[in-house]
This record gives sequence, structure tokens and C-alpha cells, in this order.
Amino acid sequence: MDKIKIVGGTPLSGEVTISGAKNAALPLIASSILVNGKLNFTNVPNLMDINSIRLLLEDLGASCKVSPGCLEVDGSSIHKIEAEYDLVRKMRASILVLGPLVARFGHAKVSLPGGCAIGARPVNMHLTGLEALGATINLDHGYIEAKADRLIGNEIYFDIPTVTGTENLMMAATLAKGTTVLRNAAREPEIIALADALINMGAKITGAGTTIIAIEGVQSLNSCEIDIIPDRIETGTFMVAAAATGGDVLIKGCMPDHIGGLISKLKATGAIVDTFEDSLRVKRKTPIKSVDIKTLPYPGFPTDMQAQFMTLMTIADGSSIIHESIFENRFIHANELLRMGADISISGGNIASIRGVDKLQGAEIMASDLRASASLVIAGLIAEGTTVISRVYHMDRGYEAIEKKFSSLGANIKRIK
Ligand code: EPZ
Repeated sequence: MDKIKIVGGTPLSGEVTISGAKNAALPLIASSILVNGKLNFTNVPNLMDINSIRLLLEDLGASCKVSPGCLEVDGSSIHKIEAEYDLVRKMRASILVLGPLVARFGHAKVSLPGGCAIGARPVNMHLTGLEALGATINLDHGYIEAKADRLIGNEIYFDIPTVTGTENLMMAATLAKGTTVLRNAAREPEIIALADALINMGAKITGAGTTIIAIEGVQSLNSCEIDIIPDRIETGTFMVAAAATGGDVLIKGCMPDHIGGLISKLKATGAIVDTFEDSLRVKRKTPIKSVDIKTLPYPGFPTDMQAQFMTLMTIADGSSIIHESIFENRFIHANELLRMGADISISGGNIASIRGVDKLQGAEIMASDLRASASLVIAGLIAEGTTVISRVYHMDRGYEAIEKKFSSLGANIKRIK
């Protein structure tokens, strides 16, 4: 298994270009199930998770053509409605094929996605939403079986905002009979990107990006071109890395409006953040001020940036509190940061208290999940000495060639086989 070796201490400087967003691409690629035709995707990130969902769609019978940064999916040849355990277990977001399969074929069998390192990750709201649209749901031997002659529009109220739940049911509702209203819907930019694409395919959707989304069902959807929006979490990861290393980095091909929750917090730490239309610049020359954060649904501070921000706080002046309100076990990275000399204490499972220390020491550490692995890379970049991170396959799921991008910014970082 690959490892990442970093010699810390170099302030990052230069320019980096952001890739397409994993969490926009996954639902958009799943939406190809809805279309009896081709969808052409551009600005597709080269990630393990993108390969996983492509392999899943090909297993269902779709035909896919891959070229650098592009993916064409032809859903007209789909003939199978079962997403098998071996494919789903590799990526929980496979649940996103459930809604489209029921909507187009009236039948779906999808392996229940297991939990992951950060939490149990239930899908109950996906299932109760489909039942509200008239589907019958059976759980049998680890599989979800959903059936409906034709989905019927209805009101669906989410107990809490769910990103993929909103995406799954928005996709399902596009082909239902009548109108569906999703209330307490998630508002992430990836939801808006999915709605925009579905509208280009002929769907009738209003309210995406607000907590109330209305979808008027249509008979069928058509082919179109879809350009994947930039990855706001990759953007945030490089922003935090620039601030943590005391560097000066221009981040290009991003959408500053999508990462506002982090920008305000980074500015509060004393970093200078200049935003432009499709780029932003982060530099830090003064000591890092400690800042409290609480993770919240968009547009609050993103849970996917919590681990990276914790690394920044480990070398801040003073103490900070991090409240992780979305997932029940998203502090695994803290154990590895402690081994590097950080001063962190966890109480009640979702409150972390961090006391800033002068510096971290390089160490051999282990990645546990996608965003935790990014926080450990940042820790290696600021630590004194050498850090070796194992299990970097977690990182390859969601970051395209991250060590190449960091080394282009001057970091002493390389992948070792
Ligand atoms: C999406 O996961 C993202 N994944 C996650 O990014 C992200 O952390 C998360 O949203 C929150 O922003 C993709 O978009 C592919 P949720 P999702 O449903 O949709 C609970 C990454 O690193 N819940 O919004 O699975 C759930 O347990 C990944 O790229 C239920 O209880 O998250 C959580 O506490 C990690 N029942 C909360 O809701 C349900 O049916 C929010 O989860 C669904 C969710």
C-alpha cells in the first residue's frame, strides 16, 4: 500500500488549480440512470470514487466512455436493477442509484451501504422519502428492495437536512406523477448543480439551494452536457494548508461563494483571504489566532473541513473548541495529531478542546478516512522533521494527485510505494 512521506517546515507558495467536485460528480453521474440516452460530463475529477460509480453503472448495463477529465454515460442500455454488495461496499454514495432506478424502472435492489469510520451513516430518510412517493421498501439480507409501478409526487419532510437524501429524492421525483415538495432540504452547492443539470435534461425543479424544493414530474429526461463544478472542499483544504504553513497561495478555478463559512473563520485566525470571481488568495504572516467552530449544514462551517481546521488550531495561540454536530465519530484524526505532539482533549464524543503548541513533530501516522487524511498531510507540512502517512488510499478516493499539487507549491512531499 502506498504511503506519503513529508518533510515539514516549508511555507507553501505559488498557484494551484482546483479539480471538479467529487460530491457533485457522484449524484450527477448517478442521474444518467434517469435518461434513455447519453450524458456528457466534463471537468470530471480523476478519483477512485468516480471509477467506483462508473463500474457500478457499467455493471447495471450502462456504457461509459472515459477520456481525461471527461466521462460519457449512455443509460439507454441499462438492463439490471441490482447494485451488488461488492460494488456498494466500496463507496457508500452508491445509494444514489436507488432513487433513479426506482424512478425509471419501477424496481431497484441496492445493497445497504454500511457505516464508515465517521459514523453509522443511516439511510432511513432516503427510504421513508421513497415510501412517501409510493414505493414499497423491503430490507432483506442486507439489501434494500424498492418497487413502484410509478412514483407519485408527495410532500417529504426531512428530520434533518441530508445531502444525498435530498439528491436521491430530487432525482426520483423528476419522473414521478405529479408534484413533490422536499422540505428541510439540504442547501449545498452540489444540490444546486444537480438541479441545474436535471433542468437541462428537461426536469421541472424550483427552489434548489433553499430548504424547500419543488419537483413537477415529467415523462422522460433527455441527453445533455454537464460541466462539474469545482470542489469546494479541495479548495478549503488548500486554503487551510496555506494558512497553516504561513504561505502565500493563489487557488484558481474555484468558487469562493461556495466556501464562505471557512473564509470568515480563516480570516478570524488572522489569515489574509482575498477573493476574486473564480479564484482566491490565502496568505498568513502573523501568528495564528485560536478560533472556535461548530460544523453545520450548508451554509454553515462544513463538516468536511473540520479535520483540516483542527490541524490549524493545533499550532494556534491559545485554546479553541471544535463542535462536530453532523457526524458522531469524526475526530479519529485527533489521535494521530496527539502522536505528533498536539494538545487535544475530546469530551462527549463531539466536542474537541485544542490548546495550541509551538510546533508538531513529524511521526509515522495512519489515515482513517478521506478528510482526516487531508488533515494529516497538513500536519506533516507544518511538523518539524519527517512524517510518513499510511493508508493513503483513503485520500485517493477524494483528492486528485494531492501530493503533486502540494509539491508544485514547494512542499517536500512524495508518494512511496
Ligand atoms: C454527504 O454525505 C457527503 N457525501 C459527505 O462527504 C458530507 O460529509 C455530508 O454530506 C455532510 O455534508 C457526498 O455528498 C457523497 P448527510 P451524506 O445525509 O449525504 C444523518 C466526504 O468526505 N442521516 O447529509 O451521507 C447522517 O448520519 C463525505 O466527501 C440520517 O440520520 O450525509 C448525518 O448525521 C463524507 N439518516 C446527517 O444526517 C439519513 O437517511 C447528515 O448526513 C441520512 C442522513
